Amino acid sequence: EHLEKVRNRSIRVARSCKDLRDRYDEREDGVYYLTTGNGMLYQTYCDMTTAGGGWTLVASVHENSVYGRCTVGDRWSSQQGSNADLPDGDGNWSNRNTFGTVESATADDFKNPGYYDITAEDMSVWHIPNNFPLEFWNMEAAAVLRYHTENRFLRLYGGNLFQLFKQYPVRYNVGSCGDRGPAIPIVYDHGDKESTRMLYGPNSRREFEPGFITFRAINWESAAMAICSGVKPTVGCNTEHYCIGGGGYFNPEEQCGDFPSFDYDRLGKEQGWSASKEMTEAAVLLFYR
Ligand code: G3P
Ligand code: CA
Ligand code: CA
Repeated sequence: EHLEKVRNRSIRVARSCKDLRDRYDEREDGVYYLTTGNGMLYQTYCDMTTAGGGWTLVASVHENSVYGRCTVGDRWSSQQGSNADLPDGDGNWSNRNTFGTVESATADDFKNPGYYDITAEDMSVWHIPNNFPLEFWNMEAAAVLRYHTENRFLRLYGGNLFQLFKQYPVRYNVGSCGDRGPAIPIVYDHGDKESTRMLYGPNSRREFEPGFITFRAINWESAAMAICSGVKPTVGCNTEHYCIGGGGYFNPEEQCGDFPSFDYDRLGKEQGWSASKEMTEAAVLLFYR
């Protein structure tokens, strides 16, 4: 029966999980095949239950070593060292490179063609502990944090992150703290504003407001970050402690990495500027609908 299900899924042609839900009435969370506009077949995870379902997993941001300084595994910032001559770093927020596999999305970085191929309206984000097995991702209690947007903001930014980050490049020295991208209100599926606050360090809590997802934040030293998950920077610009992904240069260079300076006052001590251990040791799964 299981193989029959896999076989049936393999003959569907759909460009997104929303298509699978709308056209084939697929209602189960799990791994499906999708086809790009150019006919590329790939597999990813569909969340078919949250807020009506139809959510396509397009990427995960995983921190393999918070002490790394833009070294191996830092695909969402730079694997080439903190270098002002490489302001975009690896450039993966706004290119068509893909990497990883769906089953290892909580164990390493993942990016599939849906990231640039799907035209979407909203996003959903799941923070799932590192190495958590796919068959349990949808257990709500497993998540550190889960939320989605519902104001269709992606319509204003080209329909996906690939386009949004063309408008707001994740690039060193592209602007100053005041030049951040959009901050979009979120609806919680696991957690709330107070639990979001507590996932980051006590010093960080003084300079953001929870209840948002923010794109392309810039810190005091002109380093760019891609996503502030769950929060909007308001009164400060030490965004390296609570925003993820980045361009290719951070000063000091210790801050360079996929979770840039989540370890400023030592990993997961929940003091000073350090993010919690829970947050630091969880992968960030990005979905479109
Ligand atoms: O990001 C924090 C760093 O810029 C220094 O903070 O607490 O020493 O003023 P602090
Ligand atoms: Ca990584
Ligand atoms: Ca700082």
